[in-house]
Amino acid sequence: MNKDLVTEYDLAEEDFDFIFTRAGELKRFLKEGRPHQVLTGKTLGMIFEKASTRTRLSFEVGMYQLGGLAVFLNTSDTQLGRGETVSDTAKIMSRYLDGIMIRTFAQKTVEDLAAHADIPVINGLTDLLHPCQILSDLFTIMEKKGDYRGLKIAYIGDGNNIANSWINAASRLPLKLALACPEGYEPDSELLARGRNETREGIYLCRDPEEAVEKADVVYTDVWASMGQEAEREHRSRVFKTYQVNENLLSHAQEDYIVMHCLPAHRGEEITSGVIDGPHSVVLDQAENRLHVQKAILETLMKEEKS
Ligand code: CP
Ligand code: NVA
Repeated sequence: MNKDLVTEYDLAEEDFDFIFTRAGELKRFLKEGRPHQVLTGKTLGMIFEKASTRTRLSFEVGMYQLGGLAVFLNTSDTQLGRGETVSDTAKIMSRYLDGIMIRTFAQKTVEDLAAHADIPVINGLTDLLHPCQILSDLFTIMEKKGDYRGLKIAYIGDGNNIANSWINAASRLPLKLALACPEGYEPDSELLARGRNETREGIYLCRDPEEAVEKADVVYTDVWASMGQEAEREHRSRVFKTYQVNENLLSHAQEDYIVMHCLPAHRGEEITSGVIDGPHSVVLDQAENRLHVQKAILETLMKEEKS
């Protein structure tokens, strides 16, 4: 396993499976009330340059449950927000902490932080990727479907960080990915080209949501305007209007399909309330699993680090 989790490419196939197995054990220990404090005395710094509910809660609660401490750092309150360099910040944080989680805009910021830090750096979302989310989503798919291998995942909507992370996951793991995105809102072209080259089961990009959802086992969507794109929201809601995940679209999926959304959702835009609250939706389990998978990631990366 690499020192950091900056992209899905930091993980080999066996690393994914190790994290999923561990997440399952940690989830069981928690439900059985068995403490599992393997990170006693360890500290995680959490830099948030964007808003968060699930990521902050799962990392902070996860560190507490593992016996450690999480320190929340809002960039506007730190010297990073006043121009201290990422490399200086990385070196200083390495003197206090055992790990860093960062949610920010540029993927390069996370890469630079990881390059200059002596301690593990975890990507908690950038404009490009959201690896912790996709790990947790794969774990949820395994819980619901027994395995992710060989399944067809349909991603409908914006070619954003979640779409890009799905492409990386489908490049690393044997699953089929079909994306439906409007013209001009496709996923990152470099990641897509690499993914198409490396995939075993296929990565397909089309315009028509029905084509992507055809016989899908998992139908996934995300907001049409991500954090930082708020000013485009009205325009985007016009562009994406035929990309809504609703009952009609889902009639093309496998009979036992599941619906996923990383949340937060904009009900009535990318997904209807009927679908997100409906019998095929797994969004609440998906959100809960962020905690269990985060703990597996933290334990895997931080257990052997300096205290
Ligand atoms: N899915 C997710 O990352 O949620 P938050 O933005 O609330 O952390
Ligand atoms: N694409 C969304 C994901 C939020 C978890 C965003 O970046 O805002």
